[in-house]
Amino acid sequence: MDKTKVGIIGLGTVGSGVARLLLDFGDRTGRHAGRTLWLEKAVVRDLAKARDCDLPASVLTDDIEEVLNHPEIEVVAQLIGGLEPARTIMLKLLESGKDVVTANKALLAQHGPELFDRARELGRSIAFEASVAGGIPIIANIGQCLSANQIESLFGILNGTSNFILSKMHEDGAAYADVLAEAQRLGYAEADPTMDVDGADAAQKLAILAHLAFGARVDWQDIPRTGIDKLDVADVRYAQEMGYKIKLLAVAQLVGDGLELHVSPTLVKAGTPLAEVGGPFNAIRVVGDAVGPLLFYGAGAGQMPTASAVVADLIDTAVGRTKITFKTLELWSNRQARVTANDY
Ligand code: NDP
Ligand code: HSE
Repeated sequence: MDKTKVGIIGLGTVGSGVARLLLDFGDRTGRHAGRTLWLEKAVVRDLAKARDCDLPASVLTDDIEEVLNHPEIEVVAQLIGGLEPARTIMLKLLESGKDVVTANKALLAQHGPELFDRARELGRSIAFEASVAGGIPIIANIGQCLSANQIESLFGILNGTSNFILSKMHEDGAAYADVLAEAQRLGYAEADPTMDVDGADAAQKLAILAHLAFGARVDWQDIPRTGIDKLDVADVRYAQEMGYKIKLLAVAQLVGDGLELHVSPTLVKAGTPLAEVGGPFNAIRVVGDAVGPLLFYGAGAGQMPTASAVVADLIDTAVGRTKITFKTLELWSNRQARVTANDY
């Protein structure tokens, strides 16, 4: 069977999971792609640091040039967080002829137009299923499977860390700071967890979904947002007494000729599907004019669920399927969103 040689940049929570999937189940990918994925190089900052995967020494390097100049590496999973050096590395990968897969929503929400335009100019692809809702295939569904629909609304839980914290506060009356530390230990939180708890991470993901679903180029920083960082156990207790749970909801809905977008802690009636989403799970309700309401649910953060989405993108890239999502972005990229908030 033919091999597609793969590189990874960044071997943290997600990168290590991707390496484990490729090393342990490289042949599994062949069932779908008709070719196996072969992990050729993984770039880290510190060769001596212990990793959550067992890599042959020949694979590990601290020199990114070994990926950029490797003539046989066709596709690279770029799995470092934040804006820089992630942006510069992404541009260098594209310019050296690599297709890229990424889970970095902060980068796409901030620099997506520049990166996608550059990829288009160079005839390369950027796949980003893991950037929103971890293991849930929401990008493929909105970008491809629902393309016969006008999406009317989408809303739900897009940040696993916040949901993990809120769930523990509801279940155990646990203190906010203790649960945040646990979410960091379990690998759900961003390197800087401020983005998780102040609603920024959910707003970045909402901006990406709004682009796909509504064709709206939204600056994520324009989306009105309130995080969970000001909530107290007492707020959670009062909500429970009234028969509600507090969830951090991200909302996008067509209202007249505009698009309303916001992120905020919201009272959700106990017993309803969104109220019962626990742990680091995410759920997104999407309404299309032909298909009606759909609910997507699953692990929105965590090592192997996120690795599942990244490796699926690697497989799709190996067989040239990512172009569909890419083309969708190209077609829709000129519409504008009107960003408004209400007291939903
Ligand atoms: P981590 O912080 O665990 O890992 C990032 C890794 O990138 C670290 O190992 C870091 O190295 C490495 N790194 C940083 N800069 C460089 C560089 N210049 N060269 C080589 N390696 C570098 O983050 P995650 O794995 O959790 O997240 C990665 C991306 O995936 C982020 O964009 C995040 O938002 C996204 N994501 C994360 C999910 C999760 O559940 N964790 C889910 C969905 C998306 P070092 O080890 O030396 O610090
Ligand atoms: N920190 C993010 C979250 C990771 O908690 O949802 C998944 O994007």
